[in-house]
Amino acid sequence: MEIQQDLRSHIRFYFDGELRTLNSVRASDMVMRWLRSEAMRTGTKEGCNEGDCGACTCIVGHLNEFGVIQFRLINTCIYPLSYLDGGWLISVETLSRSGSLASVQSEMLPLNLSQCGFCTPGFVMTIFYAQISQQDQTPEEALAGNLCRCTGYGGLIEAAQRAQNLPIDSAFAAEIQKVEQVLADLSVGGFSITTGDSRIDAPRALQQLLDLRDHFPSATIVSGATDFGLWVTKKLDKPAHIILTKFCKELVSMNPGPDGIEVGASVSIEDFGKVLLSEYFELREWFKRFGGPQVRCSGTVGGNIANGSPIGDSSPVLIALGASLKLRSRRAERIIPIEDFFIEYGKQDLHPDEVLVSVLVPRRKNIKRLVVEKISKRYDQDISIVLAAMAEFSGGSSRYRFAFGGMAGTPALARKTMESLNPDDLASDFSPLSDHRADAWYRLAVSKNLVDDFLSGSSFHE
Ligand SMILES: Cc1cc2nc3c(=O)[nH]c(=O)nc-3n(C[C@H](O)[C@H](O)[C@H](O)COP(=O)(O)OP(=O)(O)OC[C@H]3O[C@@H](n4cnc5c(N)ncnc54)[C@H](O)[C@@H]3O)c2cc1C
Ligand code: FES
Ligand code: FES
Repeated sequence: MEIQQDLRSHIRFYFDGELRTLNSVRASDMVMRWLRSEAMRTGTKEGCNEGDCGACTCIVGHLNEFGVIQFRLINTCIYPLSYLDGGWLISVETLSRSGSLASVQSEMLPLNLSQCGFCTPGFVMTIFYAQISQQDQTPEEALAGNLCRCTGYGGLIEAAQRAQNLPIDSAFAAEIQKVEQVLADLSVGGFSITTGDSRIDAPRALQQLLDLRDHFPSATIVSGATDFGLWVTKKLDKPAHIILTKFCKELVSMNPGPDGIEVGASVSIEDFGKVLLSEYFELREWFKRFGGPQVRCSGTVGGNIANGSPIGDSSPVLIALGASLKLRSRRAERIIPIEDFFIEYGKQDLHPDEVLVSVLVPRRKNIKRLVVEKISKRYDQDISIVLAAMAEFSGGSSRYRFAFGGMAGTPALARKTMESLNPDDLASDFSPLSDHRADAWYRLAVSKNLVDDFLSGSSFHE
């Protein structure tokens, strides 16, 4: 089969007043390595190198469909360099390029919010993002993806609060206008780069993605890379061939319909969460505890499902809501209930030539109550011990759907308990494992309590 050959063999992006063209990008290259070792911008720090601490935080902007730059907060340690294509990279040095500090930096100075200073550039970027994105969030929510190991958080929270009320600096506003014009002339995606034994393909359309998947079944599909990045930085994998999905138009679109919302698999958790919230207000707590802002801005709904993790936070919610998945190959398209996608631990119903294209989320309509409870050791940016999603439907025969993460090798329905409405039946539905997060007995006990509370109408997050 022929794969389209007239593709660029480089990426281009805007950084500190210049257009950068990079030819020899490898599948394992992350933005942080490039910034610190090639661009020599060492303000960005390496802390954990696994997306947890936020020391490496930067901002990336791409034009949206209206030609306006949409900014994203990213952990550069696990953000593939190739994803900068067609975008604007903003590092901590960018903020004071004109010779004077950005207003958020001036506000931070007298607050005594830094000791060793290692985390500070990451906090500066997150606080700057809070200023330019002006989201409806508490300062604690804005900072949930950044860790400081030596200073108290009082000053940092104060700085984030102030930033949310500061207007965007006029110099930065002017730069946005200039860069929007620069980016308008750049293509976004549509490249194929081979560097030594590494290859990156970045299709712009679903058909090209399916052709590539068909032709290279052993290549790794990479969406937000918040799992993939760790395979590179922690397992030290050297991926030979990756296929990026986020430049693929069909995978980043959302189509609201009367019965449901079709959400492209590469829509970020941030955008997906906001759409879900507009239909299911009960998910606010769930959304803000899903990773931190950096993870939500990069990670995608498709990656969260396709990784098959038993402790992924979106699958139990989508199972409880009765969502379906659209899977496509060059041969065919299939739509399956999401719960059928998870066969057993590490095994999903995804053929080697298929990709997950979208998630079909039902409209609220006959869902009377929805309660989602995440049990984890830390409140912010932690992986679930158990995630329970419980929905009550009006009318019809199956009035309840209870879905759990962390109770089995896959996210799954508690079928017997849904029928009997007896929380003790969870012991028949699941035989959870003990691991470093929690013992099996704890998982069962906490799940029973959650079902009990739901049925008695006394859930914490009603
Ligand atoms: C610090 C940190 C905090 C986290 N917190 C949470 C959390 O609170 N809750 C949670 O659930 N997860 C969390 N995660 C895990 C991760 O961020 C999510 O699972 C995320 O949604 C994965 O999506 P991605 O797009 O980044 O996946 P990727 O890393 O791009 O891909 C993950 C897997 O899915 C496959 N894949 C991706 N897209 C497709 C597709 N369209 N078709 C077929 N296969 C595909 C890839 O090949 C890969 O095997 C966290 C991760 C980090 C690093
Ligand atoms: S170095 Fe810790 S998140 Fe990147
Ligand atoms: S000031 Fe030392 S880690 Fe934050």
